[in-house]
Amino acid sequence: MAEEHGSSPPAEPASSGAPRIAATPPGLAAPGTAGAPFVAVLPVADLPPGAMIRVSHGDLDLLLANVPAGLLATDDRCPHMAAPLSVGRLDGCVVDCPLHNGRFDLCSGETVQMPTTGGLDADGAPHLPWSPPGAEPKPEPPGRKAEARRLTRVRRLRHYPIRVVDGIVEVAFPRP
Ligand code: FES
Repeated sequence: MAEEHGSSPPAEPASSGAPRIAATPPGLAAPGTAGAPFVAVLPVADLPPGAMIRVSHGDLDLLLANVPAGLLATDDRCPHMAAPLSVGRLDGCVVDCPLHNGRFDLCSGETVQMPTTGGLDADGAPHLPWSPPGAEPKPEPPGRKAEARRLTRVRRLRHYPIRVVDGIVEVAFPRP
């Protein structure tokens, strides 16, 4: 099985029946996963409702989550600056990133709240750095760091194929 790290939420009663699998948003299947073989990663009992966990396979870190829409697998890399989302907080389908407070919908792959640093959204539209409501945006000193923040694009999260076989969660990792 793949290496796993993470924590579970407070214990909840186990649900009965086969676990649901969240739908992959159109166009957001992770590259290289079409037809890729599935790999056993962990017992489904280790991923109760509301839990998310990091699973590492080679140099790939994935986030497995059990959200109201079902089980899903996406990159354990914030789509902003690559912080591990597995240390964030999960609320329904939305996870927050502790680094710049970006919030991301795991089910749709979309950004719910842009990071405080601002930058480009998935469609390339610019967003200013966060400022308190009613306040003028804080001017940034010009320089390469400010330019890097301004041009950092927050992409949509990709999904990896996931299934449950005989109580074991399996994920299709991209072919090398
Ligand atoms: S790295 Fe996650 S919001 Fe910036």
